Amino acid sequence: MYPTVALSLTVCMFIACSSACSTSCVCIKDKATCRTPDPSGLVLSEHIREVVLQDLNASLLTNNTFSANSQWSQIETLEIWANGGESLGSRVFTGLSGLTYLGYHNEHMFYMEYDAFYGLDHLKELDFSTNIRLQTMSFLISMYSKNLPRLNKLTLTGLHSYYVETINADYNFFQSIAGLDIQRNITYLDISNVTFGEFNFQAFIQNGLCDSVHKVYLRYATFLNIQGYVAEETCSSLEVLDISDSLLPNIMLDFTISKIDFLCRLTMFYFNIEELYINGLGKYMMTPPLQDDRDGDLSSCPYKMRKLSLENNLIKRLNYTVKLHNDTQKTMEWISLAGNILEFISPLFLSPSFNLKYLDLSSNQLHKMQEHYEDMFELLIQNNTKLNVLKLNRNGIARIPSNMFLTNTELEVLDLSDNNLSSLDFNIGRLTNLKVLNLSYNAISYIDAQTRDTMEQLAAATNSHKLRIDLSNMPYICSCDDNHMETIQWIHRNLDTFITSPREDYMCTLQDERLYIFQNALEKTKSYCRVQRVKRDLAISLSIVCVFLLIGIAVFLKIQGIRRRQRERKNLLSQIEVGEFPKKFLAFLSFSSDDAELVVNTILPRLNSELQLKTGTSRVLVCSGDRHFRPGYALGEEIIRCIEDSAVTILAVSKNFCQKEWCRKEVQETYDQNKPIVLLLLERVEPDEMGKVLRKLFSRYAHASWISDSNGGHMEPDWSILCDALLDLTVEQSEKNTFKLKWLNWFSS
Ligand SMILES: *[C@@H]1O[C@H](CO)[C@@H](O)[C@H](O)[C@H]1NC(C)=O
Ligand SMILES: *[C@@H]1O[C@H](CO)[C@@H](O)[C@H](O)[C@H]1NC(C)=O
Ligand SMILES: *[C@@H]1O[C@H](CO)[C@@H](O)[C@H](O)[C@H]1NC(C)=O
Ligand SMILES: *[C@@H]1O[C@H](CO)[C@@H](O)[C@H](O)[C@H]1NC(C)=O
Ligand SMILES: *[C@@H]1O[C@H](CO)[C@@H](O)[C@H](O)[C@H]1NC(C)=O
Ligand SMILES: *[C@@H]1O[C@H](CO)[C@@H](O)[C@H](O)[C@H]1NC(C)=O
Ligand SMILES: *[C@@H]1O[C@H](CO)[C@@H](O)[C@H](O)[C@H]1NC(C)=O
Ligand SMILES: *[C@@H]1O[C@H](CO)[C@@H](O)[C@H](O)[C@H]1NC(C)=O
Ligand SMILES: *[C@@H]1O[C@H](CO)[C@@H](O)[C@H](O)[C@H]1NC(C)=O
Repeated sequence: MYPTVALSLTVCMFIACSSACSTSCVCIKDKATCRTPDPSGLVLSEHIREVVLQDLNASLLTNNTFSANSQWSQIETLEIWANGGESLGSRVFTGLSGLTYLGYHNEHMFYMEYDAFYGLDHLKELDFSTNIRLQTMSFLISMYSKNLPRLNKLTLTGLHSYYVETINADYNFFQSIAGLDIQRNITYLDISNVTFGEFNFQAFIQNGLCDSVHKVYLRYATFLNIQGYVAEETCSSLEVLDISDSLLPNIMLDFTISKIDFLCRLTMFYFNIEELYINGLGKYMMTPPLQDDRDGDLSSCPYKMRKLSLENNLIKRLNYTVKLHNDTQKTMEWISLAGNILEFISPLFLSPSFNLKYLDLSSNQLHKMQEHYEDMFELLIQNNTKLNVLKLNRNGIARIPSNMFLTNTELEVLDLSDNNLSSLDFNIGRLTNLKVLNLSYNAISYIDAQTRDTMEQLAAATNSHKLRIDLSNMPYICSCDDNHMETIQWIHRNLDTFITSPREDYMCTLQDERLYIFQNALEKTKSYCRVQRVKRDLAISLSIVCVFLLIGIAVFLKIQGIRRRQRERKNLLSQIEVGEFPKKFLAFLSFSSDDAELVVNTILPRLNSELQLKTGTSRVLVCSGDRHFRPGYALGEEIIRCIEDSAVTILAVSKNFCQKEWCRKEVQETYDQNKPIVLLLLERVEPDEMGKVLRKLFSRYAHASWISDSNGGHMEPDWSILCDALLDLTVEQSEKNTFKLKWLNWFSS
C-alpha cells in the first residue's frame, strides 16, 4: 500500500499537479487509475482526461457522484469496473458532460433505471460488455430514451449470457438501439458471446441500421433461429461482418455450403461487405468435411469483398472454378484459409483474384496436392502476380515445384516454415522484393552452394530494404563433408546480415551430439575432422607399411630359402663327392620287368651318368632291381631295403607297371615311408588304369615323361631339370629329417 501511495504522489508531483491526485489513484500523464468503492470524494487534477475506476460499489453511485465536482466534466474517457450493487441508478452519470467514451462493467448488475444514461450527451462509444446478468429488457428501455444521441459504437458482449434465457434480436431490439425519437448514428455493433433465440436480418434493415452500421461483430454467439436471412435488399452501409466461432442454425450452414448456384440472389444482403470473417464454424459441423466440385458463376453478384477469412473450417477441397463479377475480381486482396484440412485448391479458384495481395494457406494438408497434383500446385498462384504475402507454412510439404514463384515478383513475405522440405531447389531468384523468407523448422541438413549464391545475390539485390531469411531450427549436420562444413561457415558469416537471429535456434548434429552452431560446433567439427584425418592417414600409411613389411619379409624369406637351398645342395654335393652322403643311393628306380629293355638299356645308364655329372662322383647313384636286389632274398625285403637306402623313389609308370602286384607294393611302401616320389611316365596311362595311391600321386605332383622319337626317345623335361629336381628333393628330405631329429632331441632332453 505505502509504496503505491508514494509512487502516485511522486508521479503527480512530477507532472506538477497543484492539488495532487487522490491517495487511491495512480496518475500517469493525463490518465488516473483509482481503486475505490465510492468515487465521490476523488479530487482530480486539471489535466486528467481519462479515468479508470476499479472496485466501485454501484450501490454508492448517486446523481451527485459525478455532478458535485465540476472536474468530472473535463473527463473524456471513463472505464468503470464495478463489483457491488445489483442496479444502475437514475441519472448516475450526470456531470460527465464531456464524456465521449464510457465503459461500464458489472457482473452483478441485473437491472438499470430507464434514465441511467441521462446526461451523456456527447458519448460516442459505449462499452457495456460483461454485464452478464443484466436483463435485456431493462437495457432496451433505457436505449428507447432520448439519451445517448451521439452514440456511434455499441458493445454488448456477453449481455445476459449468465442465464439460459436467450436474447431476441428482433424488431424491438434493433429499434431501441437505433433510437426511437432520436435517430442514432450507430456505425459499430458488437454483440459477441451471447445466445440469440432469434436474429432478424429484416428487422435490422427496417430500423435503418443498414444506413449507418459499418461493422458488425457476432463472434462466439449462438444463433438458435435466424429470420429474414434471405434479405431482398443489400445492407448498403455494412462493410465488415465477423461471425467467427459462432454456432449457426443448420439451415444457414446448408445455405453457405452447397447452394452456390443460388448464392448470388440469397446473399444480396452482403453485396457491400468488404471484410467477411467466417472462421471456426467448422468445429460445430457433424457432417463430413467441406468439399465441393461444382463450379460457381458469381459474375452477376457485385460483391465488393476485399478480405475473406475462412479459417478453421474443416474445408478439405476447393475445386471451384469461380467466375467472379469484375468488381469483385478487382477488389479481392486478402484471403485466409488457414487451419483447414485443405488437400486441394484449384488454381482456377484463386486465378480470378488478380489483385490478391495476401494469401494465408498455413496449417493445411497441401502436401497432398504437391504429391498428387504437382503440376497444378506449381500453377496455384501463377496469376496472383501482385501477391505480397504468401503463407504456406505448416503444410507438411516435402518439395516446392521449381517454378512455383516465377511470376510472383512482388512477394515480400514468403513463409514456408514448418514443412518437410529437405532441399531448396526451387526458383527464388526473381523475388527481388522479398523482405522475409521463412524456412525455419524444415528438414534441411545443408544448403548447397548454388542456393547459397542465390540467397546472397537476393540479399544484395534487395538493397532498398533488408532481406531476412530464417534458416533456424533445422537438422543441420556437422561433418567433414565439404557441403556440411561450408553451410555452417556460411551461416556463421551471414547471421544478422540477412540470416535471422536468434543464434540459439541454429544447431547441428555431430555424430549424434547436438551442438549450437554459434557456440562451439565449428571448432568441435574441425577438431573432429582433424582426428578423423589423422586416423585415416595413419590407417593408410600403416597398411602401406604393413604391405611393404610383408613383402619384405616374404622376399627375405624367399631369398633366405634359395640361399639355404643352394648352400645345402652344395653341401649335399660335397657330401656325395667325398662319400659322406648317409644314403647309399640318391634314387631308387622302380619299374616293371615288361619295360626292362627300355629302362635298363636306355634310361638307367643315362640317369646315372647325368647324376654323376651333376654331383662330380663316379659312384652308382641309382638303385635298381636288376642290379642291386640280392639273389635269394625275398623280393619284398629287397624293395624295402632299396627304398630305405635311397633319398628319392622314381616310379617308371606304364600300363604294365600298373597291373603288376609288386609294383603296387613298391608304390605303397614308398608312400608309407613318406619318401619323395617322382613319376616317370613311359607311355600314356589313363588315371583310372592306375591304382588308388598312384592316381593320388599323379594328380598331386608334376611328373616327367619319356617320349619315344626317331632318335631313340628323350626325357621331358630334360635330364638336367629332372636331376636338379631329384637333388632338391633329396635336400628337402634330409632337411625334414634334421628337423624331426631336432624336435626329438628337444623332447628327450
Ligand atoms: C438528485 O436526485 C434528487 C432526488 O432523488 C433530486 O432532488 C436532485 O435534484 C438531483 N440532483 C441533480 C443534480 O440532479
Ligand atoms: C456496497 O454498498 C452497500 C451499501 O453501503 C453495502 O451494503 C454492500 O455490502 C457494498 N457491497 C460491496 C461489495 O462492498
Ligand atoms: C455517422 O457517424 C460517422 C462516423 O462518426 C460519420 O462519418 C457520419 O457522417 C455520421 N452520419 C450521420 C448521418 O451523422
Ligand atoms: C467471449 O467468450 C470467450 C469464450 O467463452 C472468451 O474467451 C472471451 O474472453 C469472451 N469475450 C468477451 C469480450 O467477453
Ligand atoms: C476437380 O473437379 C474436376 C471436375 O470439375 C474433376 O475432374 C477433378 O477430378 C477434380 N479434382 C479434384 C482434385 O478433386
Ligand atoms: C465487366 O463485365 C461486364 C460483362 O460481364 C462487361 O460488360 C464490362 O465491360 C466489364 N467491366 C470492366 C471494367 O471490365
Ligand atoms: C492465368 O491467366 C492466363 C490468361 O488469362 C490463363 O491462360 C491461365 O490459364 C491462368 N492460369 C491459371 C493457373 O489459372
Ligand atoms: C518463422 O516461422 C517460425 C514458426 O513457423 C516463427 O517462429 C519465426 O518467428 C518466423 N521467423 C520470422 C523471421 O518471421
Ligand atoms: C517428411 O519427408 C520424408 C521423406 O522425405 C518422409 O519420410 C516423412 O514421413 C515426412 N514427414 C512428414 C511429417 O510428412
